[in-house]
Amino acid sequence: MVISQSHEKKVVRQTRLNGLFPNTQNPVVFSAPMLGTANGTLAAEVTKAGGFGFIPAGYNFSSDSDGPDHLAQLSQELAIARKLLDLEEAMLTALPVGVGFILCHESTATHFISNAIPVLQEHSPQAVWLFAPRVEDVEKGVIKEIVERLHDNGFVVFYQVGTVKAVKEAVRDGADVVVAQGTDAGGHQEVLVVAAGGIVDGRGVVAALALGADAVVMGTRFLLAQEATTPQFKQELIAKTTDGASSTFKHSVMDDIQGTTIWPKVYDGRAIVGDSVEDHLNGVPTEENVRLFKEAAEKGETNRMITWAGSAVGLVNKIQPAGEIVKEVREEALQRIKELQNLF
Ligand SMILES: Cc1cc2nc3c(=O)[nH]c(=O)nc-3n(C[C@H](O)[C@H](O)[C@H](O)COP(=O)(O)O)c2cc1C
Repeated sequence: MVISQSHEKKVVRQTRLNGLFPNTQNPVVFSAPMLGTANGTLAAEVTKAGGFGFIPAGYNFSSDSDGPDHLAQLSQELAIARKLLDLEEAMLTALPVGVGFILCHESTATHFISNAIPVLQEHSPQAVWLFAPRVEDVEKGVIKEIVERLHDNGFVVFYQVGTVKAVKEAVRDGADVVVAQGTDAGGHQEVLVVAAGGIVDGRGVVAALALGADAVVMGTRFLLAQEATTPQFKQELIAKTTDGASSTFKHSVMDDIQGTTIWPKVYDGRAIVGDSVEDHLNGVPTEENVRLFKEAAEKGETNRMITWAGSAVGLVNKIQPAGEIVKEVREEALQRIKELQNLF
């Protein structure tokens, strides 16, 4: 930890994270690259408020396939972020936002280096976040090569993991920052550890720091950011949901019900219990649940839709600008730290 003097003659502690991302203020809050809900505007506003925002870049890196053209969308969002951060005239200046990729699609091995890296080179975000690689891509060294190429280009590499095995693979393959999603991840001396999962306010930040994290990532809290593209019915459901322990459910069946096929089974998700999950828990076979889901979707009914959210969703109940969320959470955390210092 380096200690420097700010112009206010106040002693400001500079952590390694502040060194990597000079605009950040402590404790550092990262916004997660949530596909379908985070975007260039949200990420830029988080960064402007002294946090650091990630833009989701999806999973499809081949423009020849029938799937969505995620890289074209990414280019647009990065351009939006650059404009909002007032760096349009300074295209060579690194952009203080990150980009989050999901790696479990077949196009990772065939097209990530040839198609995704040029988009990153063009827009120069400061960080790249990797998540959910295929087992075979890890084993064959595809991910290691991707990390090497990202480093060659100067990007700080975040790697989101959920198991100790994945932490070890991430460290072995060269990650600079491990995003420990959940409770069972371990650390490593040379790697920064950022905690994710169930953190929605300053108390959660302090708890994560006390456990040894260098900073935090929040996802669910930003689902109610004004800039998020979360559908309105989902925002309303999130705002009124209480008691995340009993009102959310973690399982892979929700992906089966809504027909998402890209996730390997180890990557299940947590969602708010709606009619589809209720039916699953009451023994309705998945095939029938899929039929009911499609029928409801065709009628425009939202009660069977899947709303992904973390277990602390019960504490997330108001729509706010993303920058306000970052500042509020940071101030709450600093206040809580002071209160604790006064206690002992
Ligand atoms: C709606 C939603 C979408 C998400 N999408 C992604 C994604 O596209 N890529 C990714 O790496 N993580 C994704 N995540 C996980 C986040 O990166 C992060 O780990 C998680 O939100 C942290 O837990 P919290 O929601 O309790 O804050 C998503 C999370 C949510 C709630």
